[in-house]
Amino acid sequence: MSVEQNQTPTVLIAGGSGLIGSALTQHFEARGFKVFKLTRSATQANHLFWDPKAKQIDTTQLDQIDVLINLVGENIGSKRWTLKRKAQILSSRVQSTHFLSSLIPQMTNLQYYIGASGVNCYENLSGKVFTEEDTYGTDFLATVVKEWEAAHALVLKQVPGSIFRISMVLAAHGGSLQLMKLPISLGIGSPIGTGKQINPWIHLDDLCRLLLFAVEQKLQGTYNALGNYDTNTEMTQLLAKWLRRPLILPKIPAFALRLLLGERAILVLSDLRASNEKIKQTGFSFQYSTLDSAFESFFKKG
Ligand SMILES: NC(=O)c1ccc[n+]([C@@H]2O[C@H](COP(=O)([O-])OP(=O)(O)OC[C@H]3O[C@@H](n4cnc5c(N)ncnc54)[C@H](OP(=O)(O)O)[C@@H]3O)[C@@H](O)[C@H]2O)c1
Repeated sequence: MSVEQNQTPTVLIAGGSGLIGSALTQHFEARGFKVFKLTRSATQANHLFWDPKAKQIDTTQLDQIDVLINLVGENIGSKRWTLKRKAQILSSRVQSTHFLSSLIPQMTNLQYYIGASGVNCYENLSGKVFTEEDTYGTDFLATVVKEWEAAHALVLKQVPGSIFRISMVLAAHGGSLQLMKLPISLGIGSPIGTGKQINPWIHLDDLCRLLLFAVEQKLQGTYNALGNYDTNTEMTQLLAKWLRRPLILPKIPAFALRLLLGERAILVLSDLRASNEKIKQTGFSFQYSTLDSAFESFFKKG
């Protein structure tokens, strides 16, 4: 779908107020799309109120929506994974997607759907490069992704679309890079665990370009969304170089991180290689496929 074919295609982004949704809104608006955000705190003209837990929603614009993008989900890194928090992480994704699925018949104009998912969904097998054909793992995040994608599938039975298994999003402000920058800027940064664990990542601009590409090409299927992957040591050292800060401390032992963060330490300790061949085969090309180029876009002055 392009702006030429449809004068002003209208996009509804559920969870549009977050890190990805905010950038995506600007990206789509700059290309002539009209964007509404579905949010629990509707304060602006382009906001539509909903409360998926209470199954409440402002339905006034639903029949205008051409594209629905679902980014909803409680932040997985911000709080300790107590049983209650785990339930929130899961239900905020699955229940809200079920609710969206029940609303599809009211979206009479809807032509395309994108569901967000996570790349941390594969088995814990160090060294293997995972493709979209591989089976789900069995840890907490993999279980969340499996149920989340099953909920997306209920929408995809009603409208064409795709699922993107998003990797760690690198952005100039906010997200994981903000958390990585802080200790390095304070001179107390160091690699974590063995430092050899691999983290897949994607530049926020590339993710926005990728989701627009999916809408324009009407891609169907499930895709890993990563520009590349690097070890924790490579990331930490390169970030310190760009921030012009020394790394003088020894590596932070994994057990210390587990004590500090609990089970969610897996977010920085897990070792995952994933393939981005499938999305590249569709003709999409990443602007940022090296960490250096991504960091340059954030930190290079002038
Ligand atoms: N950022 C990453 O590195 C990354 C990596 C992999 C996957 N993802 C996935 O991509 C999606 C978007 O990521 P993001 O970084 O933009 O997340 P974010 O900044 O935390 O924003 C998530 C949005 O979801 C909505 N939300 C949160 N909890 C909710 C709940 N209980 N009920 C209804 N809405 C709720 C919020 O909207 P309101 O508060 O306005 O209602 C919020 O704006 C998430 O599902 C995330 O898991 C992100």
